[in-house]
Amino acid sequence: MPALVLLGAQWGDEGKGKATDLLGGSVDYVVRYQGGNNAGHTVVVGDQKYALHLLPSGILSPTCVPVIGNGVVVDPSVLLSELSGLNERGVDTSKLLLSGNAHIITPYNVTVDKVTERFLGKRKIGTTGRGIGPTYADKINRVGIRVQDLYDESILTQKVEAALDVKNQILTKLYNRRAIAVGQVVEELLGYAEQIKPYVADTVLVLNQALEDDKVVLFEGGQGTLLDIDHGTYPFVTSSNPTAGGACTGAGVGPTKISRVIGILKAYTTRVGAGPFPTELFDEDGEALRRIGGERGVTTGRDRRCGWFDAVIARYATRVNGLTDFFLTKLDVLTGWEQIPVCVAYEIDGRRVEELPYSQTDFHHAKPVYETFPGWSEDITKAKSFSDLPKNAQNYVRALEEMSGAPISAIGVGPGRDETIEINSFL
Ligand code: IMP
Repeated sequence: MPALVLLGAQWGDEGKGKATDLLGGSVDYVVRYQGGNNAGHTVVVGDQKYALHLLPSGILSPTCVPVIGNGVVVDPSVLLSELSGLNERGVDTSKLLLSGNAHIITPYNVTVDKVTERFLGKRKIGTTGRGIGPTYADKINRVGIRVQDLYDESILTQKVEAALDVKNQILTKLYNRRAIAVGQVVEELLGYAEQIKPYVADTVLVLNQALEDDKVVLFEGGQGTLLDIDHGTYPFVTSSNPTAGGACTGAGVGPTKISRVIGILKAYTTRVGAGPFPTELFDEDGEALRRIGGERGVTTGRDRRCGWFDAVIARYATRVNGLTDFFLTKLDVLTGWEQIPVCVAYEIDGRRVEELPYSQTDFHHAKPVYETFPGWSEDITKAKSFSDLPKNAQNYVRALEEMSGAPISAIGVGPGRDETIEINSFL
């Protein structure tokens, strides 16, 4: 029962699509277990490039069953438009399975996300504005709308009423916005029901049976470890659990079923949105990383904040996810630097700290302690094996591996599908 979790080891955007590519046709099910259309990954198949936000990357493989698990929040309009966009390009999407227990991002959740951010002003989180946080808040407050509710008009109406009771008070009295009519929301949601119905399934049962049948199941995390609601840089986080445990709750699969947990790790660091980022660069090196690495968000088009590799964060990701492997991406972006700094520890109020501080105050004060590694200038994009890499690139990778606490089993050396060095197989 090979069940693999693939997740971001930093603040998201580590290049998970590459790892999914590497696993290619060997995966039978690709499952998203958390987040929603706040995610964004680009998958290249042949000469075609696809930007996916909500759908699992497996949707592009004819032999794979893509699954949206119960832990995901689903905007039905986005789901349908991603599906029809793919259908127009000849992609068969009929195998998609959608959990009836997944929560729906309603139009009012999107409104609340945007007005809350505006209201927070300078203290805003920098969310993607897709309604993610308010939808998870409704789920926890037990006033959420689930996919299955679309098939019972009376229940749906009662639930929308319950949710809007409070929300309309907040929208009108606090944010000075117009109230949202229950009937309008119900009508919009019912309008999606029939189109979505063919995909709705008991995904927990399907996945557990697949594992019993020895199928290969890949759990695909959105965002990254440091954006996790429990283990990330709270409150500058997303509202779900991208960490490995999230795969269990968000898909209904027990932890004993997971065989490998692969952390995707960029050879430097990026972050979108607000929040602490000790190795962030504000100089021309940061500009160069952004330019060479093409560091612009797939979902929001925002420039990503860029900085050097942070080994403290990588170690933390190993710990909270129980990582068995790393996939190091975008090593080629570092080609050409004479010296490459790596953050090996922090200095906090005059003390050297080796591990991520649990206190938000300390983390905000953390200054990177750098060790510098000699760079390389040779083109590495054609390297097929580890020994093809220049000695200094090999040393950089080995140093990262030693500091991060799990073996680096694959290395991305270029944007192309085949520009990957595989060291240990993931299967
Ligand atoms: P939300 O997920 O839209 O609520 O946004 C919360 C935080 O997570 C913001 O800082 C976003 O920029 C960040 N975020 C959400 N999704 C992604 C992602 O896929 N990659 C990187 N950052 C993300």
